[in-house]
Amino acid sequence: MASVPPAGPEPLVVLSDVQKHYGQFQALKDIDLTVDRGEVVVVIGPSGSGKSTLCRTINRLETITSGTITIDGKELPKEGKGLAELRADVGMVFQSFNLFAHLTILENVTLGPIKVRKLKKADAESEARALLERVGVGHQADKLPAQLSGGQQQRVAIARALAMKPKVMLFDEPTSALDPEMINEVLDVMVGLAADGMTMIVVTHEMGFARKAANRVVFMADGQIVEQAAPEQFFTRPESDRAKDFLSKLITH
Ligand SMILES: Nc1ncnc2c1ncn2[C@@H]1O[C@H](COP(=O)(O)OP(=O)(O)O)[C@@H](O)[C@H]1O
Ligand SMILES: [Mg+2]
Repeated sequence: MASVPPAGPEPLVVLSDVQKHYGQFQALKDIDLTVDRGEVVVVIGPSGSGKSTLCRTINRLETITSGTITIDGKELPKEGKGLAELRADVGMVFQSFNLFAHLTILENVTLGPIKVRKLKKADAESEARALLERVGVGHQADKLPAQLSGGQQQRVAIARALAMKPKVMLFDEPTSALDPEMINEVLDVMVGLAADGMTMIVVTHEMGFARKAANRVVFMADGQIVEQAAPEQFFTRPESDRAKDFLSKLITH
């Protein structure tokens, strides 16, 4: 008889003993990190600590030197069709929105589903309109990116990533390039996604978001995971000197 699967956390993204070098320089050291399905992990740490590199290796934009990364139980292949498929499982939103300037908002969101998921144009468009509605820019569908504010463009970038139906969403400082008044409209969309159960890895220094939406904060320094804890515990009782030092600088800004 088939055994009943164990209840409880289900690992979705698993990094084991990951090392990453750029030439002689080691950007990631001994990274062991498991993100469970539905979990929201915020990654913080000083500039140059390897946060972007971590995201880029999970999305396979960068190869790793050694170790393994699995998404939903499958190891990331080096290249080929399998890579394209696994990459589609991982949605990514960058600091710079990276929308195609010559395509409309709607076309930006339907491009991937038509090319990669092989959806019919009409189906891709109805899905895209629903997603644009969900992120609050439904009425902007026929405009070009330059006609939208930064906050609106970043919400389109989120819709575009979601259109690929990813299993996990990576956000690399998604609000760092935005004017202050636009930060919350993007964070609100992310909080909503988290509440809907999306698995998320979010590089951000927005402590309000971490407190509201994160299950766990991972603190990196010098390419290593130095400390991880629930947000409240991490922000009020950091253990390592590196984290204490980092947080004291963050707060005095
Ligand atoms: N393509 C690259 N070539 C060489 N060094 C790099 C490259 N990308 C990042 N680095 C270095 O790796 C370290 C980590 O960078 P990064 O992951 O961007 O850090 P963070 O996102 O935490 O600021 C930094 O010292 C950076 O200079
Ligand atoms: Mg970075």
